[in-house]
Amino acid sequence: MSTELEPLADPGLPHHVHRKADTDPAAEKRAERQVSILFLLSAAGTLLFIYSFIWIPTDVFVFLPLLGNTNAHQLGIGTGLGLALFFIGAGAVHWAKTLMPDEEVIAQRHEMRSSDEDRASFVETVKEEAGKVQLGRRSLIKRSLGLALGLVGLSPLILLRDLGPLPEQSLLKTTWDKGIRVVTDPGNRPLRPEDLEVGAIAHVLPEIKDPEHRKLSDIAKDAAILIRVRPSELKLSEERMAWTHEGIIAFSKICSHMGCPVALYEQTTKHLLCPCHQSTFDVPTGAKVIFGPAARPLPQLAITVDDEGYLIAAAPFDEPVGPSFWERNI
Ligand code: FES
Repeated sequence: MSTELEPLADPGLPHHVHRKADTDPAAEKRAERQVSILFLLSAAGTLLFIYSFIWIPTDVFVFLPLLGNTNAHQLGIGTGLGLALFFIGAGAVHWAKTLMPDEEVIAQRHEMRSSDEDRASFVETVKEEAGKVQLGRRSLIKRSLGLALGLVGLSPLILLRDLGPLPEQSLLKTTWDKGIRVVTDPGNRPLRPEDLEVGAIAHVLPEIKDPEHRKLSDIAKDAAILIRVRPSELKLSEERMAWTHEGIIAFSKICSHMGCPVALYEQTTKHLLCPCHQSTFDVPTGAKVIFGPAARPLPQLAITVDDEGYLIAAAPFDEPVGPSFWERNI
């Protein structure tokens, strides 16, 4: 059984036309340079990607005629990576079309598994054909391809930078601290006890100097709710009772299951409901979990009033807010 590749007999196809690079050494050199230029353009694209990712700040915008105001950081990353991949592909296609061996051969069909002899012969043929690609002789292409592939390979490593920095202890603390006023969210308006009727709920944040530039990462931890009930309805320990003020009780708004905002308050039953997985917290007993997957009550914030009669925090949260899994890191 023969597996040798045989020159194409004459299947009736048009006569094979040799490419210019096959017959003209000058055209071959020119094609080689063109391929290298494409690979070098790919390398330039990757360098643009790396430069944009590391050195262009994420809040810089440029105006483009068709796109309008565009984030320069993202534009550089997208353009750089797009050019890098495009020119590697274009270089490979141009290389194959102009310089790779251009022969037409036929191979006879055989049973699926080749004999050992045929397999050995296949390896020989691959080696022979690989030699014809003349990568060893085409050092310009070899080097530019190595540079382009090497830089593109670096791109995923660069993206690892987005994994840091680690949050360290920052997730265990919020902005709330002793003496910080309670303000409405939205509105940033300080609240007095008389602003809340019995049965009312208010969504609040800690007062800061520059509320216009409050960080989202802070809001995600600081969001809290105030609820007013009759003081006689609260079933709390003496210590927790002292954290309330005239029936106003404050809890973290961040669900202790997976961090959704617990914003639904059922006035009649005095239950707080998390819309994500239906965890239900009982307000009079200190937001104890009475239904759902949450594993612990919503953290309670100690509140009181300052000299001017505004509601303030009497202390920071005494435990981390948010998903219970943080407990494992304490
Ligand atoms: S996040 Fe609140 S119940 Fe799941």
